[in-house]
Amino acid sequence: EVMKDVSGLSDMESQLASELNVQQAIIVSGNSDRYSWVKKEMGRACVRQMKEQLEPQDVVAVAGGTTLAAVAEMMSPDDNVSSVSFVPARGGLGEKVEIQSNTISSTMAQKAHGNYRLLHVPDQLSDETRESLVLEPGIKELLHLIRQAKMVIHGVGEAETMAARRKTKAETLESLKDKQAVAEAFGYYFDRTGCIVHKENTIGLQLDDLSSNQVVMTVAGGASKAEAITAYMKYRPSDVLITDEGAAQAMLRK
Ligand code: BG6
Repeated sequence: EVMKDVSGLSDMESQLASELNVQQAIIVSGNSDRYSWVKKEMGRACVRQMKEQLEPQDVVAVAGGTTLAAVAEMMSPDDNVSSVSFVPARGGLGEKVEIQSNTISSTMAQKAHGNYRLLHVPDQLSDETRESLVLEPGIKELLHLIRQAKMVIHGVGEAETMAARRKTKAETLESLKDKQAVAEAFGYYFDRTGCIVHKENTIGLQLDDLSSNQVVMTVAGGASKAEAITAYMKYRPSDVLITDEGAAQAMLRK
């Protein structure tokens, strides 16, 4: 805390929280675009929040991405997280296995000494297949768990970066450009006003399902993500935003 006051980060935290309408903003020093340890610091801050806010037996839904992978890496056991169940927020979005939400929830569970469940769903599903898959008993039960999650933790990416990383088809790329998508979260794409302009078809958490009883934690940093984070927060301000100085400065400068 002393360190934060010296560098003015706690002033910045309250400014950012009121600017973005989030209940709480946590800013770690540095810019994760430049140094990868900054992502780990965001991960550490996220784990601390989880341990403060979770209770035994809670369900936590986690998304994918390199930032969430850093959260998982920083996890360690403790009374509040060691009986928690970790579930992936949504089915496959075309990411590499290391940063898929399935992998991240299992790593988090192992490090927390908690439980996990996997959601085995292929990335590209026809509407027909998806409709029958959600009726499978195992999947149905998991979808129920996901909706009950006490806490949802996710990252935010730049639209273009995420679309390229997921090998999105040319047609969709064009349409994202036309619609001026700037942000992506959970497979949903947003323009700068926070409107959804595209959604990947996969099962699991739908943004409409998020309720005010759930704690939504967003973990995203790096100056390059400033516009994306601001846009996403216009769609739905999170309960907790964990970011870094690089992103926070850029968001406040605008
Ligand atoms: C994931 C989200 O948690 O993180 C994605 O589901 C988001 O929607 C991604 O874009 C960001 O990835 P990274 O690697 O920048 O943390």
